[in-house]
Amino acid sequence: MRVGVLTGGGDCPGLNAVIRAVVRKGIKDYGYEFVGFRDGWRGPLEGATKPLDMSAVRGILPRGGTILGSSRTNLMKIEGGVERVKDNMAGLGLDALIAIGGEDTLGVARQLHDNGVNVIGVPKTIDNDLNATDYTFGFDTAVNIATEAIDRLHTTAESHHRALVVEVMGRHAGWIALHSGMAAGANVILIPERPFDIDQVVKYVESRFETQYAPIIVVAEGAHPQEGQMELATGEKDSFGHVRLGGIGQSLAEEIEQRTGKEARSVVLGHVQRGGTPSAFDRVLATRLGVDAIAAVHEKSFGRMVALQGTEIVRVDLSEATDTLKTVPPERYEEAEVFFG
Ligand code: F6P
Repeated sequence: MRVGVLTGGGDCPGLNAVIRAVVRKGIKDYGYEFVGFRDGWRGPLEGATKPLDMSAVRGILPRGGTILGSSRTNLMKIEGGVERVKDNMAGLGLDALIAIGGEDTLGVARQLHDNGVNVIGVPKTIDNDLNATDYTFGFDTAVNIATEAIDRLHTTAESHHRALVVEVMGRHAGWIALHSGMAAGANVILIPERPFDIDQVVKYVESRFETQYAPIIVVAEGAHPQEGQMELATGEKDSFGHVRLGGIGQSLAEEIEQRTGKEARSVVLGHVQRGGTPSAFDRVLATRLGVDAIAAVHEKSFGRMVALQGTEIVRVDLSEATDTLKTVPPERYEEAEVFFG
């Protein structure tokens, strides 16, 4: 059997651990051969490949990023894309494809499977917003990085009697904000799932100042105020049409400064949350998912995504993971609210 492997979407600590597990188990247990596709769906679309054997995966377990490269190329937006992928896979003698990615990548994988391609999906995103899996690898690493940053920001904020707004990633879901905010004792956590009331945020900030401590506000990049409440400095897009980070944090710091008369600063953690070595938890999760992904290929269990449910690795239909996003439920947010102010 010859198997293609690709990593799509935003990179994520743990991608290399999956690739290593797939390749090592595939070669040792099944005698398979592998072809690495470069830069997400660009690889199979253009036939851009990279050798993927034992030596290619040696030493990559603790390395962040992806040895295969990644991109946000969306096959479904390219005319004749599916046929080109099928032709290129046939030309390379491939029997199956393992796609490691988030909602977009796995959505494409699902459509390819509907078009007769043997695909297995592996869930990946630091945002932890994929359905049908309790956690995605990369999330734990991102939360640890954000938590350490917020711990550090507490002391500088306190020394200068300032409010500090920390913007973390999470365009559609506030998991990173919720977990890092809880772990680091933030005074307010703002997430996309719940439009915030700026008057209430200001009250929390003021009550924190009254206790002689400095307020730390953790805000997910996709959080927004209730309608008509605040002017937002958002909307700046790069030349690919993707929104740049850094809007909401800055707007919020300016608003807090104006309304409280206290100094406020904003820090955008940005891609630091995605870079560098994965945590031990993410290495183990990614490895377990990789091991089961190649086992699923061997069992011809195609059209499935490997997932973590409880402590078990299970397989679910790709459609289950890509139909809707897993957002923060109200009761999880309410647990954190007790610590606000
Ligand atoms: O991987 C998802 C994510 O982390 C989102 O939270 C964020 O909006 C996005 O990546 C930003 O990444 P990029 O700059 O690569 O578009």
